[in-house]
Parts: sequence; structure tokens; C-alpha cells
Amino acid sequence: MPQQRDDAPPTAVTDWAVLQPGQPVTLRADSPLHKGVYACSVLEASADRLRVSMPMDQGKIVLVPVGTPVLVQGETPHGPLAIQARVIDRQGGSARSLLLGPLPQPPRYLGRRQPGTPTRTIAITSGKGGVGKTALVVNLAVALSELGQRVCVIDGDLGTANVDIILNLAPRWNLAHVISGEKDIYDVLVEGPAGVVILPGGSGLQELTALDDRQFAKLRNQFARLERYTDILILDTGSGLSRSVTNFILAADETLMVTTPEPHAITDAYALLKVLAQYGPQQPIRLVVNRVRDAREAQDIARKMLFASQRFLGVELAFLGHVSEDPVVGTAIRRQQDLLSWAPRSRAAEDIRRLASALLEAGGGPPPDAAPRPRSLVQRLRSLFGR
Ligand SMILES: Nc1ncnc2c1ncn2[C@@H]1O[C@H](COP(=O)(O)OP(=O)(O)O)[C@@H](O)[C@H]1O
Ligand SMILES: [Mg+2]
Repeated sequence: MPQQRDDAPPTAVTDWAVLQPGQPVTLRADSPLHKGVYACSVLEASADRLRVSMPMDQGKIVLVPVGTPVLVQGETPHGPLAIQARVIDRQGGSARSLLLGPLPQPPRYLGRRQPGTPTRTIAITSGKGGVGKTALVVNLAVALSELGQRVCVIDGDLGTANVDIILNLAPRWNLAHVISGEKDIYDVLVEGPAGVVILPGGSGLQELTALDDRQFAKLRNQFARLERYTDILILDTGSGLSRSVTNFILAADETLMVTTPEPHAITDAYALLKVLAQYGPQQPIRLVVNRVRDAREAQDIARKMLFASQRFLGVELAFLGHVSEDPVVGTAIRRQQDLLSWAPRSRAAEDIRRLASALLEAGGGPPPDAAPRPRSLVQRLRSLFGR
């Protein structure tokens, strides 16, 4: 049965099975693309589906696209009826009609976060691939979730082992289906460990350049709904100097730069910092040194990197912490489990928990001298990709 949303006007009748064929109803559309009140009549009504004639506006047929939310209003013997619905199918030809169904409901595992604070977006990146980004994304997300944060991970790395493989999830849909309009963002999300929410990126993030204004407006609304349930949004960016990686970093509120002690990984991290330096002062960039022998090795590397990036690139790097070299990281990946449940007492798990606390302590939000920019991540991505 269609559920009434918080924002629907109060009404006595919320079940459209009471509607009779032939009865007039109106559809009130208030999407960025279709605004207006259109007249149509009931063809068939059941508890959760309503088929109506093609809506008309001043004698003309209105082609309301599939996916558009509408408010169905009409008069019934039991009182006025108002139901929030969405267009789920459109038929042409002699059977010309619109099929309406319930609005997509947020999956049960999504819990609302405290309103007021904006969602904090964190890009996790590296100069070189294979340094442990994806493992860090997943395990840090779990650790932050255990600290009470509502965390969503966006898998934007098209290259190697994806978040869903590491976690043994088999998402059927991804962001590309949201962009094409086939799926609602609620349909695409999957539940990960410890309540972490995963948004499979697929080719969707790369398609942002090609969006027309309609698709873009829709995507922005879909993301706005996701953000209601998200304190921290973690973006696995992939590695290297490609435009898509730098754009993800620039669009996020802050960045974690991952390196290992390996000289190549360090040089490639500098190369990426150098590219970022061209865009002027950045949102905070924090360094995580992965696969170290001990804290001291990490501190040595961090001291040198902080110094060199400030001195030669003009980039203020901060040191967030380290993760020890620990074989359980690889074992957990092969078992397709997150490290914190597979080996909660391991060194690497302790390190990751420490990183999560440090990240919360460091706080979010732009530096006070940062230039104002759009609040929505999607909008920022679009303006970057559109450049
Ligand atoms: N702290 C660590 N200790 C031991 N091995 C690690 C550690 N972090 C990552 N690895 C290994 O590195 C490999 C690559 O990690 P991955 O997260 O896929 O890298 P990236 O996403 O940067 O390409 C993993 O298969 C894992 O076995
Ligand atoms: Mg990866």
C-alpha cells in the first residue's frame, strides 16, 4: 500500500483502491522539470497501483517522465484523497496511459542522522595504485560507523578490486542506473558491514560530464536524499593524475592521501600533490602512511613529506596516522570480510580505529579562508568536470 510521506498534506484517504474507473483526479508534479497540476481520469485502481489516462494541461498531453514524483488528488465519498506517488511506467499508442506506484522508500538500514551539520565528504586517494586505499576506505568506514557515524562509501575506483568485491556484495545496480533514470538511489544502495552504506559507482561518476540539465537536476535531488542519512561520505577515488581523480579530490571537503614507505609510492604521491597545488590552496589534505613497521617509520616519512610538500609545492599536508604492515589485512580481503570483524584485535585494526578517532577529532568543514562553493557534492563535481 502506498505510504504517506511526512510532506504530504493531511488527508482522510490514503488508499487509492477507493477510486472508481472514470473518476477525475489531478496530478501535481513539482520536480525541477515538470511543475504543474494536470488533469486525468482513473482507468484502474488497486491498493498500490493506479493507472490513469495521459495527463492533460490546457488541452495538450503532458509527457510526464517515468520516475517523476506526483501528488495524486481527488474527491472520494470518504473525503478528499491525496497520495504521494511516482510515475513507474508510461504507455503510448491506443492504450495510452500512465502507471503510478508508491514512492521509493529508504531502505530499512538507513537511519536518519542529526540534522544541522552538513555531510562531510572525504576523498581517499594515492599517487600510485596498490597502496591500500580500498582496504582503508572499507575499514575506516566500519571504524567510523562503530564510533556512531552514519557512513556511506562511494566506489569511484574503476580500476582494481572494488569495494563490493572486498565486502562480498553483489550489487545489481549502480550510479549509472540512477543517472539513466532506471533506478532510484534507494534501489542502488547496498548494506555493508556495521551499517555502512555502499553506493556502487559503476561508470556513473564518469558520466557526470555528459549529463543534460534534466538528468543533473534529478541526480542532485537523489544525492540530497542520500545526504539526509549520511554524516560522512567516503569516496574511493582510484589513483594517479587523471582528471577524474583530481576532480573527485577537488569536489570533496577533505582528502586522505595514502602512501606506503615504498619510494615509488612516495614520489607518485608528490606528483599528485603537485597537480593539486596548481588549483591553489586546498581543503585539508591529510597523510596516512600504510604498511609501516612501526609508528616511528611512519613519523619519519611524514616529517619528510610534510616538509617537502610545504617547501617545494606550497601544499600544507597534515599527518593523520599510520597503519602497520599486517598480514591479516590481506587475509580479510581474501575472505571478503572487513578487517574489524575478521581480526578486531589485530595491530592493523587498532591502527584503523585510531585513524577513525583522529579523523573525528580533526573535525570537518572548510578552513575559514576557503572560497565559498556549492554545498552539493554532485554540483561541485559537475562544475569541475564541465570545465
Ligand atoms: N596494512 C597492510 N598490511 C598488509 N597488506 C596490506 C595493507 N594494506 C593493504 N595491503 C595489501 O595491499 C593490497 C592492495 O590494497 P588495495 O586496497 O586494493 O589498494 P589500492 O586500492 O590502493 O589499489 C591488498 O590486497 C592488501 O593485501
Ligand atoms: Mg582500489
